[in-house]
Amino acid sequence: MPDAPVIRPARAEDAGAIDAVIRAAFTGSGHGHQGEAELVRMLEADGDALVSLVAEAGGAVAGHVLFSRMDVEADGAALSAAGLAPVSVAPALQGRGIGAALIRAGLDALRAQGVAISFVLGNEAYYPRFGYSPDLAARFASPFAGPHFMAMMLGDRAWPERGRAKYAPAFSRLG
Ligand SMILES: CC(C)(COP(=O)(O)OP(=O)(O)OC[C@H]1O[C@@H](n2cnc3c(N)ncnc32)[C@H](O)[C@@H]1OP(=O)(O)O)[C@@H](O)C(=O)NCCC(=O)NCCS
Repeated sequence: MPDAPVIRPARAEDAGAIDAVIRAAFTGSGHGHQGEAELVRMLEADGDALVSLVAEAGGAVAGHVLFSRMDVEADGAALSAAGLAPVSVAPALQGRGIGAALIRAGLDALRAQGVAISFVLGNEAYYPRFGYSPDLAARFASPFAGPHFMAMMLGDRAWPERGRAKYAPAFSRLG
């Protein structure tokens, strides 16, 4: 068995390898378009990337996750928020817990930064295991409203009654 991957912050020199992992993961995944690699570049360039982690196995990048700054208001006040997207694992290494390890490490890093809430738009069979809930996201007005839109509080504060949630500007620039 190869050594378990190490999760660490992404560095500037990882950019090419991250790009390759994202393209490989999303090609044929049946999920969305092929804009995820471009999205990561735009979020970084805009300064909206809050947490960017890679899983490194055998000296190579095996997976990547990015959390980006969102514009969120809850019960009339701004709430610091991060959107999870995209997360990708090299096809040959999927299903071994690397994606889960990246997401859990990312959520820990957000908590350490004092971020209050995280949102994700994705498969409702996957993200609830980390604590994401469609019921919490449903309290926020958003163009993404629906069962795939999920949210989780990162600290111990209670769920807000209502609010609105907007992803970083790069998301609306995607073709
Ligand atoms: C989604 C992804 C990041 C998960 O990483 P991973 O290391 O394969 O996942 P883990 O080993 O942590 O977890 C495996 C679980 O994820 C599920 N899973 C794998 N890919 C999935 C996907 N695209 N959507 C939903 N669930 C998925 C598996 O069925 C398995 O579920 P189980 O534990 O109930 O059996 C990875 O499969 C991937 O890169 N997929 C293609 C890109 C993608 O669709 N990204 C998500 C959208 S942003």
